Amino acid sequence: MSSVQDWEAPNPVKDNRSGLIGKGVDRYEGPLKVTGAAPYAYEVTPPSPPAYGVMVGAEIATGRITGVDTVEAEAAPGVLAVWTHRNVPAQPPRGTKAHPRSTSGSRPALESDRVTYFGQPVAFVVADTLENATAAAKLVRLTYTAADPDVDFPHRLDAAGMPPGEQDTEIGDFEAGFAASDVKLDETWTTPIQNHCQMEPCASVAWWEGGKCIAHTSVQMVKPAQHGLAETLGIGRDDVHLLTRYIGGGFGGKGQTYDDLTLAALAARALGRPVKVAFTRQQMMHGTIHRPATIQRVRLGAGADGRLNAMSLMTWTHCQRDGAFTEHASNFARNLYAAPNRLTGHRLVKLDLPHAGAMRAPGEASGTLSLECAMDELAEKLGLDPIELRIRNEPEVDPENGRPFSMRQLVRCMKEGAQLFGWDRRLPTPGQVRDGRWLVGLGMAAAIRGNFLLPAKCSFSVDADGVITVRQGMTDIGTGTYTVLAQIAAETLGVPLGKVVVEIGDSELPPAPGSGGQFGAATAGSAALAAGMNLRQAIAELAVADPGSPLHGGDPNAVTFQDGVVALENRSETLAELVRRAAPAGLTVEGEIRPAQDAQKWSQQTYGAHFCEVGVDPVSGEVRVRRMLGVFAAGRILNAKTARSQLTGGMIWGVASALHEGNAPDLRYGSLLGQDLGNYLVTVQADVGELDAIMLDEVDDKANPMGIKGVGELGNSGAGAAVANAIYNACGVRVRDYPITPDKLL
Ligand code: MOS
Repeated sequence: MSSVQDWEAPNPVKDNRSGLIGKGVDRYEGPLKVTGAAPYAYEVTPPSPPAYGVMVGAEIATGRITGVDTVEAEAAPGVLAVWTHRNVPAQPPRGTKAHPRSTSGSRPALESDRVTYFGQPVAFVVADTLENATAAAKLVRLTYTAADPDVDFPHRLDAAGMPPGEQDTEIGDFEAGFAASDVKLDETWTTPIQNHCQMEPCASVAWWEGGKCIAHTSVQMVKPAQHGLAETLGIGRDDVHLLTRYIGGGFGGKGQTYDDLTLAALAARALGRPVKVAFTRQQMMHGTIHRPATIQRVRLGAGADGRLNAMSLMTWTHCQRDGAFTEHASNFARNLYAAPNRLTGHRLVKLDLPHAGAMRAPGEASGTLSLECAMDELAEKLGLDPIELRIRNEPEVDPENGRPFSMRQLVRCMKEGAQLFGWDRRLPTPGQVRDGRWLVGLGMAAAIRGNFLLPAKCSFSVDADGVITVRQGMTDIGTGTYTVLAQIAAETLGVPLGKVVVEIGDSELPPAPGSGGQFGAATAGSAALAAGMNLRQAIAELAVADPGSPLHGGDPNAVTFQDGVVALENRSETLAELVRRAAPAGLTVEGEIRPAQDAQKWSQQTYGAHFCEVGVDPVSGEVRVRRMLGVFAAGRILNAKTARSQLTGGMIWGVASALHEGNAPDLRYGSLLGQDLGNYLVTVQADVGELDAIMLDEVDDKANPMGIKGVGELGNSGAGAAVANAIYNACGVRVRDYPITPDKLL
């Protein structure tokens, strides 16, 4: 049995008879996590005592390793292996060119003497303890020939080119439309590099059972990690068993695997014992990916009536010399506001910096920091309220491709938010409101993020105790996947939550695309619903065919499932009784979801409106976020608590982008200046006063059979712009260079 083809048909999640769907039930794995009993990758206990690997990072950004001296390191206590490019076990060459069938890119480690970024792992030490490995790693002596690193992004725009395979999108005639507009804005915003600082740094443990590699790692996507590792090791995919049961944050930074996994697997094979390898916090900054800096030029041209006539967002950004990742900060602007003349695009500069890559709301998180402030500035020029300006430019169909919106409740988000937040108290002229030493201001911004559905599978089993087990090669990066899968299973089979077991994070389970792009819950959940529907059918058929069942001889399509009981009119028995008698070994079925054939007919997005109140100290330039409210429309919500946590977490990140977070290269060495949480500032809950996220009632039946969308990235879209706009309203200073640190306000 495969996908639920009739999306319109009733299903238990839609009917939600027990009210479990949407309820803010506690996290399925919460007790394990808060008691420290959930083993994260590095804490997994292997079958025999592990050895410990430590990576050594390059001390130059670009050049070659010319000398290797490992004599001292090899002689250090407890050392089992010291590897550099000279003696690392051979691995097939990197990437899709060498492997045309590669879907994920292999990641050979220590592969050559060539260094392309500061901190690139260039040596690796394994010892009996972590302490011995750490000490010996400091004894590895490498010499280099280094070239001057080319890392000065704002001064290298001359080297900017088109991202591979892209072109600018122009509709109408932007230049002419802009020139003919009554009111114009032409401003440039800059956003800095942001580093991934998940609570759990990237880490792996690997061992071998015969020719099979067992690897626990911290990764958002199971199958690409399994396939990539197999390719790197030169073995079949089925010879890698990859597990990722608990993940301490992903945010896009664990959308791929890194050298910790490769080196753990290689060393475990070479040494014949399990090996653990983890990035240190400091190594995370260079050795994994970052959100690249951007320079964004926004041009808006409007008539005196406040209607946009011309709109352009052009983004310059950077990626690693050998990479092609592009921060698509202009993309969301294609779907947000109506304007007949439109120009958007990206330019990419290749630099000798570490790899740029995806970070939560890639594109929107950076891009809204310009356009949503530009809208605030334009509203002021027009003498309009910022919400009214947005309402006047609300498109009827997608302004870029003419497709109808599946659902678009942006205006409702803004209006409800305005009311709840007390937006009518905002004075349009800045600098008018004081509270003691603070100048107080209000700001708002819109949020938008796309919605996607990918192919996925899932299996459901029922056993003789009436327990439903959900199995899926899905991940939970802290978002609540375990919990929402349990809710879907409980609602679909009519059993209490306590009768559901969820097993995810394993390459040997039915494949799902994993967590990313805020498609996780919709994709994995839709496959789970399909599996649940198939198990209902299988159980109903079992009951009516079994002469021992009170349901015998009835219509399987009329069987109901509630409170662990299967019933047909006034006849019933418990699910456990039925299975124990009629299928004592249990039943297992699969289900799968695929995007609808006509999915492309719709413009599918999630929306929101952020409201922020800040206080600015005019003497010190200190900014305090006093209140923040987000109102979101993102389809049916599966779990009010975990969804709200996703949204408020995203909003806090928006505050970080506005006020605190950012990194910059050291132009001399090509390293990043912020190298740990001591000098890379991450905003926390305590940095925000009142904080709330509200989700509108919405069911988007074009999205999937449950009508749900995603919330994981939406909260981080637009939140920073609301803070920046509030700062302007408080003190009358527009800062277009993020983060808005106190010095920039004085
Ligand atoms: Mo994401 S930044 O698509 O995990």
